[in-house]
Amino acid sequence: MPKRTLVSRRFVPVLALALIGQASMPALAFADEAGRMEYMYSCSACHGETALGDGPVARYLNVPTPGLTRLSAENDGEFPLLEIIQVIDGRSGVGPHGTLMPVWGARYMASAVEDAGHFGAEVVVRGRILSIARYLESVQE
Ligand code: HEC
Repeated sequence: MPKRTLVSRRFVPVLALALIGQASMPALAFADEAGRMEYMYSCSACHGETALGDGPVARYLNVPTPGLTRLSAENDGEFPLLEIIQVIDGRSGVGPHGTLMPVWGARYMASAVEDAGHFGAEVVVRGRILSIARYLESVQE
């Protein structure tokens, strides 16, 4: 029988780097790389590779897909990290979810729970979302 691990092996580096990114600036570059990969995989189809809201799927949606590079500019120059985490997660009901923007917290949870159990899965989900939010912070105008 395979040994149970706390978090899915695939996401250990993402999670670790996201957490390190909180503590020290040089490590932030690596955290951004994990977040960048996650962004390209989960978000770029709609929001675009350069986050300008022009991904290939955007034209098929019946609501405009927002660009994500002016989040700081629209918030007096400060990146609204906590709000963006909640918007991406979506499970708290903050933000435009349940429309076309997927509830990522629920999606990531569903895939993480199989490997990590409920407690570990929550850690994995938050690590993934934090890494994306940090990446978005790095691409602000
Ligand atoms: C299926 C297309 C689609 C995908 C995939 C998608 N989004 Fe969205 N997103 C939208 C749309 C459309 C909106 C505008 C709100 C609405 O009406 O649904 C939005 C809104 C947002 C907002 C709010 C922007 C603002 O100005 O308030 C953020 C932040 C965001 N998305 C981040 C992400 C991230 C991060 C991912 C990947 C984890 C992602 N989105 C994946 C379609 C998508």
